[in-house]
Amino acid sequence: MEALLAIKPIRNPEIKRTQLFINNEYVDCVSGKTFESVNPATEETICMVQEGDKADVDKAVAAARAAMKRNSPWRKMNPADRGKIIGKFADIMERDCAMIGTVEVIDNGKPFLMALLDIFNCANIFRYYAGYCDKIEGRTLAMEDGKMGFTKYDPVGVVGAITPWNYPFAMSCVKLAQCMCAGNAVVMKPPELTPLTTLLMGDMAIEAGFPPGVVNIIPGYGPTAGAAISEHPDINKIAFTGSTEVGHIIQSASGTSNLKRVTLELGGKSAVIIGKTADLDKAVSMAQDACFVNSGQLCLALTRTFVHEDIYDEFVRKSTELATKTREKFGDPFTPGILYGPQIDRVQFDKIMDLIESGKKEGAKLECGGKRLNGKKGFFIEPTVFSNVQDHMRIAKEEIFGPVQQIIKFSSIEEAIDRANNSTYGLAAAIFTNDLSEALYVANALESGHVWVNDILALTPNTPFGGYKQSGIGRELGWEGLLSYLEVKTVIIKI
Ligand code: NAI
Ligand code: MG
Repeated sequence: MEALLAIKPIRNPEIKRTQLFINNEYVDCVSGKTFESVNPATEETICMVQEGDKADVDKAVAAARAAMKRNSPWRKMNPADRGKIIGKFADIMERDCAMIGTVEVIDNGKPFLMALLDIFNCANIFRYYAGYCDKIEGRTLAMEDGKMGFTKYDPVGVVGAITPWNYPFAMSCVKLAQCMCAGNAVVMKPPELTPLTTLLMGDMAIEAGFPPGVVNIIPGYGPTAGAAISEHPDINKIAFTGSTEVGHIIQSASGTSNLKRVTLELGGKSAVIIGKTADLDKAVSMAQDACFVNSGQLCLALTRTFVHEDIYDEFVRKSTELATKTREKFGDPFTPGILYGPQIDRVQFDKIMDLIESGKKEGAKLECGGKRLNGKKGFFIEPTVFSNVQDHMRIAKEEIFGPVQQIIKFSSIEEAIDRANNSTYGLAAAIFTNDLSEALYVANALESGHVWVNDILALTPNTPFGGYKQSGIGRELGWEGLLSYLEVKTVIIKI
């Protein structure tokens, strides 16, 4: 952290890369159309970006297919050499972190320190997978006498990666690192709201040494460029992160096109359960952090805070005090000490304000916040705490994606588990308790892809990431994530 604090943003950086990246070249789109990228902290236009569509996706897929041809340089590359290129990609992003971080702040609005943290975490993801390239090993199968069988892993082929705006650079990195480790080629579609840091990856891919066609980047809109990818007959897999609504569309597009493999990383309405033996101050601060991080724009956000009735009143009082203090940490993302930026755009801002209004109307108690952060240009919302939240309210069911905490009272652990599980989502959950049996009982009973005990949001390159139910299909990261970028081949030999 000390080292990161010493890194300074670049003043008035030149935005060099606004074109598509196909076959190791930056090119204009076929239609000649452009779209604007906006700075959410100032509401000003940063630059115009080339708008990719179906014709451009076709070009990128053709380049990717050529890179995946039998005997191509990429297919013939020794796995250890592939690992070296992936490792070099990590070195480049660390070297260029001030530039990448600055562009991320301008495009996305997150504080500079947070952008740097994303970059250094991503470098670790690349290094983890760099080391995995020469360790992707199959099994020898039990066979009758006279036969010998084994499995091996092949790359799945051409991957379409569609990513969201809340962690623009990081989400592209997560998908790219796994694609490259598995030996695939990729067509990435960065989010239309924040395309700029993914576009920098073209230069990084060339410098690291990826052969032409292995990495392709097509900025553009979801229903056009995104749909062209998810419907494409020559794409073998889609790795998607975004809303559950679009997840349904992507899964259907696979079904009506070529049954491409689909992994989906979608929304959540995750619960944190605060047991009566919990360390109260720690639980108050961590549970709130798990709502407000990235200004609440986080699929893993633990927004349903279930608190045991014995400690409920004190928990609400302390949470309100803390949120009121945390207001000072919201602001201009380049100012040191600022930890929370604006919401990404007016659409998200309006959606969050509508949900806050619904909470008030449905009878939840607004303890603090709930308004636009005054005196600030940009899409800033005050850190907001609701108490007296009931399960049927919209704020207890819908993903808010803003800095809004819902505090809910419970009486018994059985009740808390049932209510936590009563959701169409199942991405993450946490329990705060000093009772080991309670911790393990709850961890076993929760229907969610992650459970943290006395901790929140802990993630490393080896932790499989993903959800139960409508929070998604499959996992990213770790060995389980890598598997979804591979096909298994069974080879049987008659001796
Ligand atoms: P979105 O799901 O529309 O956008 C995510 C990505 O999907 C973007 O790259 C977009 O261009 C692409 N996309 C959109 N429509 C598509 C289509 N028909 N075919 C292929 N790709 C398509 O998310 P949006 O509208 O930006 O945010 C809406 C809500 O979604 C948020 O309020 C939040 O609740 C949730 N969300 C969840 C995220 C997560 O991390 N799981 C990330 C972003 C949003
Ligand atoms: Mg932007």
